[in-house]
Formats: sequence, C-alpha cells, structure tokens
Amino acid sequence: MLIEIKNLTKNYSMGENEVPALKSINLSINKNEYVSIMGPSGSGKSTLMNILGCLDTPTDGIYKFKNVDVNSLDDDALSAMRNKEIGFIFQNFNLLPRLNALQNVELPLVYSGVPTAERKSRALKSLERVGLADRIDHKPGELSGGQRQRVAIARALVTNPGILLADEPTGALDSRTGEDIMRLFHDLHQEGNTIILITHEQEIADHAHRNIFIKDGMIHYDRPNENKKQIV
Ligand SMILES: Nc1ncnc2c1ncn2[C@@H]1O[C@H](COP(=O)(O)OP(=O)(O)O)[C@@H](O)[C@H]1O
Ligand SMILES: [Mg+2]
Repeated sequence: MLIEIKNLTKNYSMGENEVPALKSINLSINKNEYVSIMGPSGSGKSTLMNILGCLDTPTDGIYKFKNVDVNSLDDDALSAMRNKEIGFIFQNFNLLPRLNALQNVELPLVYSGVPTAERKSRALKSLERVGLADRIDHKPGELSGGQRQRVAIARALVTNPGILLADEPTGALDSRTGEDIMRLFHDLHQEGNTIILITHEQEIADHAHRNIFIKDGMIHYDRPNENKKQIV
C-alpha cells in the first residue's frame, strides 16, 4: 500500500474555536492508482492534500506513506521525503518568475543536492516529457497558461516521486488547454505514475479511475469510475 490513512482528523484553531476540517477519514491508495477527490468548497479537499503531501500534520489519526508513519519523522526527514516522493501541481503553477523553465524544473534537484550536470540532463528530460524541449530558456511570463502548467508538471516529475498530487490543476486554464493537461495526466498514469487529482469539476474527475467525494470533512463516497472518460 502506498498510502494508508486511519481515523484521520484535522481541526484548525481559530482563537477560542476549533474548526473541524477532516473528521475521522479512512483511505488507502495503491501504487499506480488514478484517483480524483471532489467536493464543494470548504469540504476539506486542500486540507487533505496538504496532509497527504506532508505540508501539514493531522490533529489525530495515522498517515502512513510507503509503510512509514509520517508522524514519526522529524522535520528534516519529513522535508526530505516531501522533496523526493511528492510531486505537487497547483492551480496557479507556483513557478518562480525570474527563473527560466529549465531552472524551475531543476529546483527540487538543487534542494536534494544533485550535481549540476545531472540536474540539467534530468530537468531537460522532464521538459521533453511534457513537450516543452523548445521552451527551456523561457521564463514563466513568456509562456502560455498551459505551457506554465506543463513546466510545473515537469518540475513535479523530475525527482521520480512516488505520487503526483494535483490541486485544481486545470482551474486556471480554458477548457481546451485543460483537456490537454488531462491527456498528459492520462499518459503519465499509463507510464506507472500514481495520481491524486483534486477538482470541483465533474468533467475533470471523470478522467480518473476512482472517484472520492468529500463533504463536510467526511468521505461521502469512494468508488470506481465505471465511465472513465476516453482520451482521443
Ligand atoms: N488555515 C486555516 N485556518 C482555519 N480554518 C481553515 C484553514 N484552512 C482551511 N480552513 C477551514 O477548513 C475547512 C476546509 O477547508 P479546505 O480544506 O480549504 O476546503 P476545500 O479545499 O475543499 O475548499 C473550511 O471550513 C475552511 O474554512
Ligand atoms: Mg481547496
């Protein structure tokens, strides 16, 4: 099992009050699954993504990633794991504006101390994978929205992470460009990647093999997608 979550609870403190964001969630995800997580605004999707991505810790319950209890890791071990194992993809791309595409994609490897030459060749390979080999010198401001998201996906892939976590990856794109990005996710899944895709759009969730719906911090349903959208 890649991900195992047991009775996971997250409360945010707001002064005197506790805001319950996740209420005793149970969830297991295997390697090479393609899972969507849907739910209305405020249902706990981003909270769950932050915990899955080790950006935040639960109030209670167990999160095991590759059989390691994440709670047992100290800060250094946690950030090393996050950097190596988790590829994040965000709605607004989160690229550094002063760096070109190649430098943006190299960043996770800089943090993990990979030597310069290897860094460059791996970043280039990752950009080739997303179809941007001819844009490596371009800064984010010189790229379209779809191209920026491709750079972000190349950056997420460059460490060969155990999992790709995408929070509304098509949210800032027009629907045609969004479909291109979904085609790329489809191919990456076929190549063996594990993908967790957070979205509030049914059309996007239809691409996944398994659909989870969260409501009020609880899993409302978790079922196989019988009508997986065909990629043409
Ligand atoms: N940093 C925070 N401090 C306090 N409350 C928060 C914080 N982040 C999220 N919440 C609350 O937790 C709940 C779930 O939020 P979130 O996970 O962002 O939902 P979603 O991504 O599904 O829109 C909401 O009620 C939200 O207001
Ligand atoms: Mg959110």
